[in-house]
Order: sequence, then C-alpha cells, then structure tokens
Amino acid sequence: MKENQHSNTGNSFPKANIYLIGTIAALAGLLFGFDTGVISGAQDFMFQTFALKKDASLESNAIKGLVVSCVPIGALIGAMLSGFCARVIGRKRGLILTAIIFAIGTLSAAFAGSLNTVIFARLLMGLAIGISAMVAPMYLSEISPANIRGKMIFMFQLAITMGLMSAFAINLWFAHSIADYTMNWRWMFGVGIIPAIILLVGMAFMPNSPRWLYLKGRSNEAKKVLQSLLGKENVTQELAEMKESVERESKGSSLLQLFKKPLLPLLLVSFGLFVFQQLSGINAIMYYGPQVFGSAGFGESAKFIAQLLMGLTNVLATIFGVWVVDKIGRRPLLTMGFIGMVICLAALSFFLKSAGQNPYLALASVLIFIVCFAISLGGVPYIMMSEVFPLKARASGMAIASCANWGFNMLVSGSFNILVAKMGNMGNVFMLYCICTIVGFIFAWYLVPETKNRQLEEIERNLYSGKSVRRLGDTASATSNI
Ligand code: BGC
Repeated sequence: MKENQHSNTGNSFPKANIYLIGTIAALAGLLFGFDTGVISGAQDFMFQTFALKKDASLESNAIKGLVVSCVPIGALIGAMLSGFCARVIGRKRGLILTAIIFAIGTLSAAFAGSLNTVIFARLLMGLAIGISAMVAPMYLSEISPANIRGKMIFMFQLAITMGLMSAFAINLWFAHSIADYTMNWRWMFGVGIIPAIILLVGMAFMPNSPRWLYLKGRSNEAKKVLQSLLGKENVTQELAEMKESVERESKGSSLLQLFKKPLLPLLLVSFGLFVFQQLSGINAIMYYGPQVFGSAGFGESAKFIAQLLMGLTNVLATIFGVWVVDKIGRRPLLTMGFIGMVICLAALSFFLKSAGQNPYLALASVLIFIVCFAISLGGVPYIMMSEVFPLKARASGMAIASCANWGFNMLVSGSFNILVAKMGNMGNVFMLYCICTIVGFIFAWYLVPETKNRQLEEIERNLYSGKSVRRLGDTASATSNI
C-alpha cells in the first residue's frame, strides 16, 4: 500500500473526515474490549470441551487462571514493544500490524484443537491489545485539531466499552442459541474477526500521523497530511512548530531523558493515572461481574442481566464523557469522577458485607461507580499520556505508561479471588479499592494539568519554559490549531 495516498489533496485541500479516521483507528479499542470481555462467557464451555476437571484443585485453577490472564500478560509484552513499534514502523502501520495479529489470534482461538492453542491465541490477542492501546491513542492525538483532541482520544475508550458490551451480549446470545458446548465458545471468539478485518482494510486507507512523518524527515508528506487534516493550504506555522519540537529533542536518548527532569514528572502523571485506574477495582467488576452480583444477592440469570446492564451503563456514560471532555475539561471530570467513585466503592463495600440483603442497592452502587469511572479514570489516562510528552519522547513515555495499565490490570484481576479469600469477604476487598481511589484523588488533584484546548506543541513549550507538570496546560503564546 502506497503511503499517504489519502492526503493527496491537489490545490483545493478538501478537509479529511477526521471523525471517520478516528472511528476506524478506534476499532482497535473495540477489539481490546471485545477480547478482554469474551472470556467471561466462553471459558466454562471451553474448559468442558477440553475436559478440564471441574474441581477446585490447584492444577485446574492454575490452568484456568493462565487462560484468563494470558491477555493481560500478552498486553504487557505488547505495551513494552509499543514504543518501538510506533517509532520505527509508525502509528498507522503499527495499527495495521495489530489488526493482522488480532485476526490471527481470533482465528487460532476459534479453531483451537487444544487448550495450548487457546493459550497461544490469547497471548497473541493480548499482544495486539497492548500495542494498540498505546498506538491508537497516540495516532488519534496526533491527527486531531486541539479543540477536539480530548474527544477523539476518548472515542478510543468509548470503543473499549462498546467492545466489552458486545462481548457480554454475544456471549449471552451464543450460550443460548448454540446448544453444542464444543462449538458455541468458538463462535464467541470468532465474531472478533469482523472488526479485525475492518480495522485492517480501513487503516490501509488512512493517512499517516503528520508528526511521525515529520520525525522521519518526510516533511513534504507531513505538510500534505496537515493540509488535508486542517483543510487549509497554509500550514507553515504548524510545520515550524513541529520542527522546533523535533530539534529541541534531537540530543540524547529519549528513553534515558524520561527518567530525568523535566520529563520525569510527566512519566509520573501518566504512569500514576493508569495505576489508579486499575487500583479502583474496575476490572474486578468487569471480569468478575457475575460473581460480584452473586455475592450481592442476585440469582443465576439475574447476575448476568446485571452484568449486561453494567456494560450498557459503561457505554452510555462514556458517550457523555466524549461529548463533554473538551467542554468541561479533564480536571473537573476527574474531580467529579473520583469523588463519586470513592462514595460508591464505600457503599458497595457496605452492601456486600450485608450478606445479600441489599442486592438492588449494591447494583445501584456499581452502576453509579461505572458512570463516575467512565467520565473520568476511564478515558482521561489515555488522554493525558497522549498529550503531555514532547514529540521525541512520546512513544517511549506512552509505552512505559501503558505498562502500568497492564501490569496493574494483571495484579488486580489476578489477585481478586485470593484477596476475597484472605480478607474474609468481598466487601473488604472493595474497601481496599476505595482507599486506593482516595490516594488517587489526592495524586490527581496535585499533579494532573488541564490540557483542554491546548495544542501539543504549546504544552511542550510550557514544559521547556520550566512550568510544573500541573501548569502544563496554561496558555502559551502560539497560534496553530493542531
Ligand atoms: C481500562 C480497562 C477497563 C475499561 C472499562 C479502560 O479504560 O483500561 O482496563 O476494562 O476501561 O471500561
């Protein structure tokens, strides 16, 4: 595929459809959500197919745990490779590569002849998720004009929630429509091939990131893409700013620089937000939803309906987040979200301790928690990591922040059952997440900048003029719009 075809705009510079580009790239998020969510419904049938013992022996639990956690393990590896991938092969081809890996992983899982193949397939899916969870937000941030950049990156989070929700719905559908338990889970996995192919074909027609092109010395192509994205001929100002940002960072290794001032605080903010995103216990609820609702007092089928309701709430609240993030700003959303999450986690902890007496109040706490998460810690960490790093350090910085996402995802999802057993009941575990979220609130309050409507180069200029991380989004003298 010849690169940059899309941006061949001639003299009139018709404006590229930025929302179409965003939607295609965000499909990587849909696959992320789908592939992490599908296992909740597929696992029991799959274990039956491969005659895994239904006992609670250490061996069967270890195998089951491995099958579930290979996605976060693969994603952690993917996150480590994502910086290299974004830098060397580029944001656009990085996403094409993940679509291919998603497709191979999906087909291998659907046609698996043994549990080992399933494990291999899920590691591949995880790898693709880990790479794309960093490359897609980066691509979205680099093609978007400043006034809609938050919204565009938040679309990635929206896609994750839609993926999770579709996985819950597809699991329910195939569990009921295909009676043969050796086949239904194959269909659950197999459906993932559709978004993988759309991502693959769609991305082939999308433009490269202008910032990556510039970084690679392909300034003519960068200019054409910018003209197309902004729909105007004169992009001299924008190119001059990219030049400035590339030259500023041309000395020294960007990876080492990340651990020194002035970049270290940026790493701390991006890494920390993902740590607190995971320590809020979101995936204890996402991956173990039916178990949590069961403890709250819901019966067999009601707990699956509750999970679906939770998935739907997540999607709707995220749509609200997409709509308001560039209007209200990142900090007010984080503040509202954190306060709401702390209250709901404390309430959920209380209702879970009341031994199934208050199932509806527990459900209400979960749903309001999901709303608060969706408008704040759901999307904002992806936005922050895509916005705060200067161009040359962006790929490595975002890769390290993504490792926090997957490392702590593994920690929380892997330790949930152990903590429930050790702490006596599920309510205590949610109280622990509540305490972590209070610490997260203090962290965000003192460190997270408001970057609404700031262009990336303006944020970078603030950084090098000595502003603290909290003040990176202050007005700096600049005129460009991207
Ligand atoms: C997190 C995922 C989580 C999802 C829930 C994302 O922002 O990274 O771990 O499952 O939100 O919506």
